[in-house]
Amino acid sequence: MYQKKAGVFMADWWDADGRRHRKQFANSAAAREHEHRETALAHAERASREMKLAARTGGVKRSSPKVVNGTTEPAKGKLGVMIPGMGAVATTFVAGVEAIRKGLAKPIGSLTQMGTVRLGKRTDGRSPKVKEFVPLAGLDDLVFTGWDIFEDNMYDAASNAGVLDQRLLDQLKPFLSSVTPRPAVFDHNYVKKIDGPNVKKGKSKMDLAEQLRDDIREFRKSSGASRLITMWCGSTESYIEPTEAHQSVKAFEKALRENDEMIAPSMIYAYASLMEGVPFANGAPNLTVDLPVMLELSRKNEAPICGKDFKTGQTLMKTVLAPAFKARLLGLSGWYSTNILGNRDGEVLDDPGSFKTKEESKLGVLEHILQPGLYPELYGNIFHKVRINYYPPRGDNKEGWDNIDIFGWLGYPMQIKVDFLCRDSILAAPIVLDLVLFLDLAQRSSELKSLGIQEWLSFYFKSPMTVPGLYPEHDLFIQLMKLKNTLRHLKGEELITHLGLEYYD
Ligand SMILES: NC(=O)c1ccc[n+]([C@@H]2O[C@H](COP(=O)([O-])OP(=O)(O)OC[C@H]3O[C@@H](n4cnc5c(N)ncnc54)[C@H](O)[C@@H]3O)[C@@H](O)[C@H]2O)c1
Repeated sequence: MYQKKAGVFMADWWDADGRRHRKQFANSAAAREHEHRETALAHAERASREMKLAARTGGVKRSSPKVVNGTTEPAKGKLGVMIPGMGAVATTFVAGVEAIRKGLAKPIGSLTQMGTVRLGKRTDGRSPKVKEFVPLAGLDDLVFTGWDIFEDNMYDAASNAGVLDQRLLDQLKPFLSSVTPRPAVFDHNYVKKIDGPNVKKGKSKMDLAEQLRDDIREFRKSSGASRLITMWCGSTESYIEPTEAHQSVKAFEKALRENDEMIAPSMIYAYASLMEGVPFANGAPNLTVDLPVMLELSRKNEAPICGKDFKTGQTLMKTVLAPAFKARLLGLSGWYSTNILGNRDGEVLDDPGSFKTKEESKLGVLEHILQPGLYPELYGNIFHKVRINYYPPRGDNKEGWDNIDIFGWLGYPMQIKVDFLCRDSILAAPIVLDLVLFLDLAQRSSELKSLGIQEWLSFYFKSPMTVPGLYPEHDLFIQLMKLKNTLRHLKGEELITHLGLEYYD
């Protein structure tokens, strides 16, 4: 769904034959509803055709192990990580990588570093580490740069963020001080609560995009990196809906030249990166790469994209608990989620425009997991509320409360309370590391590099991107299965379906 102009909203969907359709509406809710309904119909139509085909060909097709799944180039040379937004998450990630490289700490929470992947049968005893199974860049090969509206280097920014212990930061000081921010592309209208001096000036948004492209080329040269990744860790921008300017590369470039106000700074970074053939991951809930123009560029330039909004604390819990309710057919009448946090992200989210962007990202989760259309008696009438309150004394140590009203056998009500005293950036940093390494892998894989959206990385996001017309998969365990099966598939290993009948033959 996108807004064509004031008061004109376009539903935008693909039918069962892969044909694109658009229909005009006077308000966004009607357009969104129409799009959802048509998309669901298209899925149902496709599923029914597949079932008919399976019946004609004598039953369900058994998957046979594939051998040819394209090629994956080895991870040779340095991998340059470029980060717009050198705040709490970015500095906790970069300082963490350096601490791990120096043997001062462990990469806890990182699937690429500590995770394993089971291969073959349960009785085979083959479970290599992910990083030994697929060719990922090593931590020693990572080099960093970033952009920020403030002039602090990574050491000062990490000290200000107050996430990591100062004694640890002091041990990393020479390295962290060497990462200094490049001037940012910034628009105060998109992030109302902050302002800073380290900002680029340009005649037009296209001019700013060209300056970012120069930065990227300069970093590629000066760092000696053979490959690059851009990872958006900047603030959450004000809520906007897609417009015509975002529908194609041609329209977007015209809008850049004309300084269209619907082009947010994060989109300019994304455009510059994709034009330079650099993959882009979006850690915030902004639209950024979740737009037809970016999908077009990503596919054309073989620069994979993924997003959006790191799935760290409360939403991580939601995508674990909600699938459990659905699995046991327990009903849900209400889910009230509230948070207090006192970091700069919390301050930015205190602005209604930025909060709305975050709220949309957090709200979508339950509907997609619980499927009220399929289970109207259980999930047809849920009151779902999300609040975020800026509360400075807590800093980065967020507290997220959930009150969940569920009902069971014969409709008897029950309640669950979750009180998660988490550390926002400690949860986000390993996600950033995994995304950097997996996006780089995707670009080296002949199978993945021209797909555009890397849906197999949904595991890491609150609001996972999918190809238009496909609903996102939010259940954490389905997401993990999808991720690991993608790795197995790339290596020509049998996919794990958990059928397991062969053990009883
Ligand atoms: N920490 C988490 O658990 C978590 C989870 C999900 C999403 N996120 C998102 O990740 C992002 C980073 O979070 P954080 O806690 O590090 O926030 P932060 O406020 O500490 O850091 C964001 C940084 O981005 C900079 N910035 C803003 N606009 C910019 C621009 N146009 N160009 C360059 N720099 C810009 C700010 O100056 C700031 O230093 C936020 O959007 C947040 O919503 C964080």
